[in-house]
Amino acid sequence: MKPFIYHNPTKLIYGEKQDLIGKILGESGHKSVLLVYGRNSIKKNGLYDEVVKSLRDENIEIIEHSGVSSNPTLSHAREGLEKAKKVTSVLAVGGGSVVDESKAIAAAALSNCDIWELFTGKVPTYALDLYVILTISATGSEMNDGAVLTNEKTDEKFSYKSKLNYPKVSIINPKFACSLPNDYLAYSAVDIIAHTIEVYFNAEVHPNIQNRFAENIILSTIETTEKLLKNQNDLDARYEFALCSTWALNGLTKIGVGDVDFPCHMLEHSLSALYDTPHGAGLSVVIPAWLKWLVKRDDSQIRGFAKAVFNKDSAAEGIEELEKWFRKIGSPISLNELDISKKEINKIAQNIYKTSLRWRMSDIYTVNVIEDILNNAIH
Ligand code: NZQ
Ligand code: ZN
Repeated sequence: MKPFIYHNPTKLIYGEKQDLIGKILGESGHKSVLLVYGRNSIKKNGLYDEVVKSLRDENIEIIEHSGVSSNPTLSHAREGLEKAKKVTSVLAVGGGSVVDESKAIAAAALSNCDIWELFTGKVPTYALDLYVILTISATGSEMNDGAVLTNEKTDEKFSYKSKLNYPKVSIINPKFACSLPNDYLAYSAVDIIAHTIEVYFNAEVHPNIQNRFAENIILSTIETTEKLLKNQNDLDARYEFALCSTWALNGLTKIGVGDVDFPCHMLEHSLSALYDTPHGAGLSVVIPAWLKWLVKRDDSQIRGFAKAVFNKDSAAEGIEELEKWFRKIGSPISLNELDISKKEINKIAQNIYKTSLRWRMSDIYTVNVIEDILNNAIH
């Protein structure tokens, strides 16, 4: 194992606790909040009314910032930043997109900068207190230091990390995810698996404890996804699925494994930037394509994965089973299914290469290599 420091300051509250949000803000002295949410899911499932009541009961002034899109955009985040100048805290009620946009707004509001500067190298100095009520478990954003945003003018989907991005408190009541459509459930499952395998395959070292932890997260994600596709109201499965999601990207899987690259995310972010592909749908296309490239370089971890997750002896069978499972749950596995043709591969590769340079992965992920990987996703 490699030496490590682990510190995660987010307080997690799991269960039927969303009505506590007003008290939680009030106890921290907040008198005003920017309430950030997406389009209409929280109004349809009743969460919006509960949250607003809880805040009003504590006399907290609410300024709303709604309409965050899946794959949140810079222009919308900038609108939120203007509103944030009048509040002392930010409350994100939604999925990873809402949480990520809120993180950027909260940091830019007190760091005296434009939002895009955060995504292009500026280190934030202060941030408004950020609180989260999560409605879709997928990204792990509720308990991590990352944020992702798309600059729709330059077709760049960038991320940044900061310790200021950790929410103060995240409330996760998996019941609210029961209204999630099956396609997004599938994309969420893919994203959880993606976070787990990025570390599993790309870490410097692979201690058994972390290998088994990752395999357990993947197995539990597969099991609970299948239960939820049969019965979307299975609350036990919802709770376990939500925990898989939080555990997969809150830093726990990275403990003691050294440096980790995230190549599948690098590949996927350009699909979202150029085609507005849902994050999980893009991942289920690039993961098998990337594994088919990796297996020719080093198949040792893939063999372990094949055995532990699918009880298969060869790496090739492991990749095939994973691809079959993505297909079974209804997530795409080829660029064609995303209406992207072979002739677009160079354009996509050029976009990905920009991230490859930023993430210091360009010694391996050259434009040629990226094109080879993407070609594996043309079926
Ligand atoms: O806008 P509404 O109406 O709320 O609809 C949303 C949205 O259309 C809907 N939804 C959310 N909760 C629901 C619901 N529908 C019914 N019932 C509910 N309970 O689901 C759709 C997708 O929401 P979104 O927030 O976009 O999904 P997700 O959580 O997958 O977030 C994706 C974003 O997070 C980024 C992705 O790149 C993408 O931009 N990521 C963030 C990471 C991080 N901060 O650490 C890491 C990830 O790898 C990822 O890159
Ligand atoms: Zn992801």
